[in-house]
Amino acid sequence: MSHDRPAAHSGTFVIGGDLPIHRLGFGAMRLTGKGIWGPPEDHDEAIRVLHRCLELGIDFIDTADSYGPEVSERLIAEALHPYPPGLVIATKAGLRRPGPDQWREDGRPEYLRAQVLSSLQRLKLERIDLLQLHRIDPKVPLGDQIGALARLQSEGKIRHIGLSEVSVEQLRAVREMVEVVTVQNRYNAAYRKGEDVLEYCETQSIGFIPWFPLATGDLAKPGGPLDRAAERLGATPSQVALAWLLRRSPVMLPIPGTSRVTHLEENTAAALLALDDETMRELELQTA
Ligand SMILES: NC(=O)c1ccc[n+]([C@@H]2O[C@H](COP(=O)([O-])OP(=O)(O)OC[C@H]3O[C@@H](n4cnc5c(N)ncnc54)[C@H](OP(=O)(O)O)[C@@H]3O)[C@@H](O)[C@H]2O)c1
Repeated sequence: MSHDRPAAHSGTFVIGGDLPIHRLGFGAMRLTGKGIWGPPEDHDEAIRVLHRCLELGIDFIDTADSYGPEVSERLIAEALHPYPPGLVIATKAGLRRPGPDQWREDGRPEYLRAQVLSSLQRLKLERIDLLQLHRIDPKVPLGDQIGALARLQSEGKIRHIGLSEVSVEQLRAVREMVEVVTVQNRYNAAYRKGEDVLEYCETQSIGFIPWFPLATGDLAKPGGPLDRAAERLGATPSQVALAWLLRRSPVMLPIPGTSRVTHLEENTAAALLALDDETMRELELQTA
């Protein structure tokens, strides 16, 4: 393993028993305009970020139909299709976008189906490796939402099903209906409300994808809660935030997002940073 491909040092997790990935991935939500709306400010840099992901050993990219909307998925296909073997693209359905920074749940089976079919086209895929229900829609019976995904799975359009922003109770309920291979919940060194979900995932070997791993860069800021440890370790605060996540659990699959190659390189190098027990304890206290 070479340091040229740092993500390969983040450890391996096998999604759904048949998709091995390096644990440190990339979140492609930031490759869009302000408010996660429209095209990115710098299209060529967005394409460079995606190419650089692969060079750095990243083989797990998270996106959604609603990022842009459509923009993030289209950029991924533009930059990386035909995809190299082993690259896992996880996308989502279940949120509508009325405008910038606006997100509305829509879990109607016909909507989920239409979105998955259009994601397949945009991503130029015959099957989506991991389709995550972006949110459970409280207005629609849970069985109808999961049933729509199960049908797409039995038709071979989806390989695996994941959930996003769920409680242990919801996760248990969905697992009565289908196999759930990942959960994507907000979680980072300074935001640990989902601790019970993480622990449940760990016992069940379900991948836990913490979104907002850098708290939109707040954890990466000089003077932030991770600064002292970063200085001592000769690392940057964003690297400490990501190394903390990687060390926290073997099922943790962080997907830091950025629109810039320099930040991508900095973040991915976190896979080379091993935190000792004392630093883990210190960070638990400082960020609690
Ligand atoms: N399931 C859900 O509901 C949900 C919700 C939100 C996000 N997500 C997923 O999770 C991924 C990550 O979440 P996120 O993008 O909201 O949060 P994040 O990864 O914690 O933070 C990204 C932000 O931090 C900045 N940043 C990144 N690296 C940095 C560095 N080294 N130094 C300073 N600033 C840095 C980025 O700005 P620059 O572009 O300037 O680098 C960007 O604004 C998303 O891309 C998406 O795939 C899922």
